[in-house]
Amino acid sequence: MFEVKNEIDFTAAHEGLLIGLFDKPEKFSGILEKLDEKFEGQLTELVKAGDISAKFKNISKVHSFGKIAAKRIWFVGLGKEKEFNFERLSEALGKAYKAIKGSKLQECAVLLDSLTADSVDGLEAAHAVSETYALASYQFRGYKQKSNEPEKRVEKITVYSEKNDLEDIKASLTVGLAFGNGTNSARTLVNIPGNLLTAKDMAEYAQQLAAKYDFEVEILDKEEIEKLGMGAFLAVNQGSTEPPKMIVLKYQGKEQWQDVIGLVGKGITFDTGGYSIKTKAGIVGMKTDMGGAAAVLGAMEIIGELKPEQNVVSVIPSTDNMISGNAFKPDDVITSMSGKTIEVLNTDAEGRLVLADAVTYAKHHGAEYLIDVATLTGGVITALGLHTTGAMTNHETLYEQVLEASMEAGEPMWQLPLFEKDKERVRNSKVADLNNSPGSEGHAIVAGAFIGEFTEGTPWVHLDIAGTSTTSREHDLGPAGATGVMTRTLALFVERFEPIEK
Ligand code: BES
Ligand code: ZN
Ligand code: ZN
Repeated sequence: MFEVKNEIDFTAAHEGLLIGLFDKPEKFSGILEKLDEKFEGQLTELVKAGDISAKFKNISKVHSFGKIAAKRIWFVGLGKEKEFNFERLSEALGKAYKAIKGSKLQECAVLLDSLTADSVDGLEAAHAVSETYALASYQFRGYKQKSNEPEKRVEKITVYSEKNDLEDIKASLTVGLAFGNGTNSARTLVNIPGNLLTAKDMAEYAQQLAAKYDFEVEILDKEEIEKLGMGAFLAVNQGSTEPPKMIVLKYQGKEQWQDVIGLVGKGITFDTGGYSIKTKAGIVGMKTDMGGAAAVLGAMEIIGELKPEQNVVSVIPSTDNMISGNAFKPDDVITSMSGKTIEVLNTDAEGRLVLADAVTYAKHHGAEYLIDVATLTGGVITALGLHTTGAMTNHETLYEQVLEASMEAGEPMWQLPLFEKDKERVRNSKVADLNNSPGSEGHAIVAGAFIGEFTEGTPWVHLDIAGTSTTSREHDLGPAGATGVMTRTLALFVERFEPIEK
């Protein structure tokens, strides 16, 4: 897929040569200067005349007229060097790959050194080159009889860099590709409809991951879930003909099973709302209610590829939320694995119920730090919109590490508060310890507060991705549909994690 070379070869007959350009290049320097010499200064002229634009994300295609063996040069505008960062590089590269793909190129070369600045070094740029390649060329094939042939895409990329060690670049390209592929796997899981991805299917997928990467795997079936007393998880499954699965994957990268990170993902394969049924407009798209589980599985794939020195247990409660004579109902009182009783006020607030038992079970498996990811509330969309994941925490230091990973991954998040008054609203029930829906004010916050009740002092960050897990529009880093959001943040967080002194 990727070939890396230290010396740029202007005699190589690449179909395309991709070059990054910062705004206001007074004069080409370095490798671009050499290239311009081949063109007898005409590239500089084209920049001056505005035919080649360095404006952020502008793509300028220039024929080489035989001055070099590569047929065409694709200049991608990187904007102002001062504003440049990894996220902007990824977006610009995504746009460039899409343009290149549109021109049906099957091979191209990239001048890596042209994509670097003080804020992004060669190795980070190499990561962006491969990650963005995977993300931008992602396609969900769907199920049409016709036209489900995969689109032609670039199959080989030569990366030229004079400034970096070849082996280092290769390693960064491998890491970037793992991040891109893991995210794409998460996207595919989310894009698959509920009839084709049941809890059983998700468990089988996890088993395949475990076999590939040598993870320890545990799939709890309904009987085992009953034995463990996971009454909150079971209540959500009660109306379904599909049995629930509690999916556990363990990755041990340290000698001792300590400093264990617990990743918990909401795995509702379809959310009808149950008896608190959704509207006919609101129910469409609810196949994506396992976006949290997908992010966790995507991150586990990256972890399996890169094998960081960390310990991770991931826990995914998976079921659909259906209606039938057996289904749970508003007013029901259920008992969670932790022993806490819950008054059900809204069967559509099912995510927090399955996550309650999953959090307890992650602790049972030794998780000392918890991150849960869930398409949990429409409220987070009202609060933060469609581009920002909502975060809540009981531990600021842990949150800082998650936030840092999210910024580096280009997956923005924003913290919402968990004040005592909102915790009290969750604890307000005449008949049980907790209620699952204390009213519509601050939906996202009370949902987070509810899950927080089950962490019982374990440092924890909750990520509500209801707004960010899918997008209705094609974007620089992929098509409309699932985004695979938080896959990269989780994987990066795990890779960089530093245990917190207790
Ligand atoms: N799965 C939904 C949240 C959701 C909404 C995800 C939109 C993706 C897009 C969740 O289970 C839900 O129904 N939440 C309710 C909670 C309410 C009933 C307390 C909500 O946010 O409206
Ligand atoms: Zn729901
Ligand atoms: Zn849901």
